[in-house]
Amino acid sequence: MKKLYIETYGCQMNVNDTEVIFAIMQDEGYGRTEDISEADVILANTCSIRDNAEQRIRGRIEQFSHYRKKRPGTIVGIVGCMAERLKDKLLDSGRVDLVAGPDAYRSLPSLIASITPDHPAINVLLSHEETYADINPVRIDKNGVSAFISIMRGCNNVCSYCVVPYTRGAERSRDPRTIIREACDLWSRGYKEVTLLGQNVDSYFWKGEGGNVDFADLLAAVAKINLRLRVRYSTSHPKDISDKLIETMARHGNICRCIHLPVQSGSDVMLEKMRRRYNRQWYLDRVRKIRSEMPDCVITTDIIAGFCGETEQDHRDTLSIMEEVGYDSAFMFAYSERPGTLAARNYPDDISPEVKNRRLTEIIELQNRLSLESYRRDIGKTFEVLVEGPSKRSPRELCGRTGGGKMCVFSSTGKDLAAGDYAFVKVRDCTSATLLCELV
Ligand code: 5AD
Ligand code: SF4
Repeated sequence: MKKLYIETYGCQMNVNDTEVIFAIMQDEGYGRTEDISEADVILANTCSIRDNAEQRIRGRIEQFSHYRKKRPGTIVGIVGCMAERLKDKLLDSGRVDLVAGPDAYRSLPSLIASITPDHPAINVLLSHEETYADINPVRIDKNGVSAFISIMRGCNNVCSYCVVPYTRGAERSRDPRTIIREACDLWSRGYKEVTLLGQNVDSYFWKGEGGNVDFADLLAAVAKINLRLRVRYSTSHPKDISDKLIETMARHGNICRCIHLPVQSGSDVMLEKMRRRYNRQWYLDRVRKIRSEMPDCVITTDIIAGFCGETEQDHRDTLSIMEEVGYDSAFMFAYSERPGTLAARNYPDDISPEVKNRRLTEIIELQNRLSLESYRRDIGKTFEVLVEGPSKRSPRELCGRTGGGKMCVFSSTGKDLAAGDYAFVKVRDCTSATLLCELV
């Protein structure tokens, strides 16, 4: 059997795409290997979101060529967002045999079959229809407890800093029947948690014979599969997150109280330039609605420091919205100009690296404090956690997440608990990223 090795970079959607690629290649007789030195095909499933992501991957591509030299005939391929962005430029180095964009995975077997020592293969066509709806992903998670399900692909938002609409193409939703089928299948195989994935899940929409299905309808349908199946989703767009969705979450105990709501900036001037199409007031109103329906809901975010023309006042607006919302955690980035985006074409990347990094550090320091405060508020509370397995730091302890997604570590002495079990724990202490608990 031929062996396929894939390294995955970037977001959860890419992880799920890797699972789709394994499924497509499995039908062609390829088995999965985690040992790169025995691979017949080495793929990097890549990310273009920031320049440093691409630089890291370039370094890896160089290392791949050592394996290609050691085992002549080994194919090295670049797939995913960087493949779509850079297209045949990736072939220039002579280190790459295959380039395939996010909508070209069905053609991987024929592309690979067509490769000769002098002729690499490339397919970077984007599609308006492809959702890989019929493909049953080969799961690569470690514990068999939680899995991702892609419910849509592409993005129509065109935020001015973002490369995704160019790398993943236009937005399209997947047939809800195939989503439900996939979730049911996971449940029957012992999975206890599914995360529905899309760049902007709130614009999920399926026009069907039996009626239309929006994201709130889909979420409710998945939640009804079984009350013991935890349902998560990512990512919401603040401009689109609807009262109906928030109320649907509040009605279903097994939809996790956890919303990732990327704010990007707290300044109206920056939000306008970023083309986010909401303002600070609107965002805070959405947070109020979430908190009024679900006071215990965890809210997390993404923040960009040092976007084009950002003043000290704009930066302070970001710090103040963070305080006002009190995020439980956040992903924080320095702005990285991406070629071809609206921002790259229209606004100079004029904040110096020093200032960007100083602002980013201030944002990270503030978030560390907010996270610690959020975790400290949980001390003394009891949560139901879904056990994921032994804790990384001390194998004698177990770890599992609360519905809000916070990691709990606890000793299991006396109880026979395994990955996939639910357990109640009481929080004794915490760090800014872990709740230290005991079983109750
Ligand atoms: N520079 C920095 N961060 C970016 N993000 C997206 N594009 C860029 C960029 N050009 C961040 C946003 C987004 C997250 C996935 O990555 O915060 O929500
Ligand atoms: Fe995911 Fe965006 Fe990176 Fe593509 S560019 S892999 S969509 S994070």
